Amino acid sequence: MMQVLKKHDVLLDIVERCNAVVVERIKENTHSEASIALESFNNGGKRLRPILLVLAAKVPQAEALEPINDTLIRLAGAVELVHLATLFHDDVIDQVDTRRAKLSARLKYGNYASVLTGDFALAEALELVQRSGVASAMPEFIRTLRVLVRGESLETSHKHNYSLSEAQYYEIISEKSASLFALSCKAGALASSGEYADALGHFGWNLGMAFQMIDDLDDMLDSPQRSYDCDLRNGYLSLPMIRVLDALQDGHRERLISIIENADFTPATERYIVEMCMEYGAFTETHATIDRHLERSGETLARFSPSPARELLTGIVGELRAYAGEQTRNFTAFLRNSA
Ligand code: FPP
Ligand code: MG
Repeated sequence: MMQVLKKHDVLLDIVERCNAVVVERIKENTHSEASIALESFNNGGKRLRPILLVLAAKVPQAEALEPINDTLIRLAGAVELVHLATLFHDDVIDQVDTRRAKLSARLKYGNYASVLTGDFALAEALELVQRSGVASAMPEFIRTLRVLVRGESLETSHKHNYSLSEAQYYEIISEKSASLFALSCKAGALASSGEYADALGHFGWNLGMAFQMIDDLDDMLDSPQRSYDCDLRNGYLSLPMIRVLDALQDGHRERLISIIENADFTPATERYIVEMCMEYGAFTETHATIDRHLERSGETLARFSPSPARELLTGIVGELRAYAGEQTRNFTAFLRNSA
């Protein structure tokens, strides 16, 4: 996902400078949580949120991309550190063994270390917000942290709830995920002219909604037989599953619930799940929802004057749309290959 991020020197430069500011903050500390944070931070990640923050800052006044000042880089580092903090905590909550194709910190160093490292990352994030000198950014960060906690709490409270509604799903992903995308874009706008911060926050929120739905679909493409960390095993429903559970009749709903509840994942049951989603149009509907959010984010961008930042953000929206289309083909291919 997100080849566009690797194609532009200026984006690579943002990533490099954001990495440097985060590493510098982490390295001012010598306790073991700092070295765990450094290890995880260096273990990849697209740095999508920092990129969005910097690009969003340049949109309102259709500014040139460069120069990018240290204020923006500090805020960019801060949103990435918040993201990192949530992952250390999420891995404990979900009890996952891997993160970014490596052992999760909680498996390698234990749950306590993972929680404390998340706390440390959060403290350093707030330090960077403070040092950015953008007074209006701090209340936005604090508000978003509160929303993130609520979203994660809501999600865990609905674990194995097979009657989860679409509205409840939207609320969960809005709070646990899209809120941080919204903050990234809003903070960028606040750090530059301060103009259109809400419009850019709205852009980020729509992008984040689409991003999380795509991420959840990606998770469905992982076989629950092999992937012990996958959402379905954890009792978390994605949008296609919610839709199909709502539509199924004649004992199919009970069969599907029993597969999930008993973790009865075999080639045949995995095929059945995807087949049902396909048959009831759940993937198509999900992609229509994703498209709608991406369209709205595109519409917000279109209201601004053309600029290099606007073009890059439009490229990110387009790339997410293309990736979602690819996912549909992957589900079709899965069914063909497992026939
Ligand atoms: C990953 O989602 C997790 C989140 C997007 C949010 C996690 C939020 C918290 C733990 C609460 C707030 C924490 C702090 C430090 C403020 P996912 O489980 O769908 O993604 P994954 O497949 O990558 O695990
Ligand atoms: Mg989770």
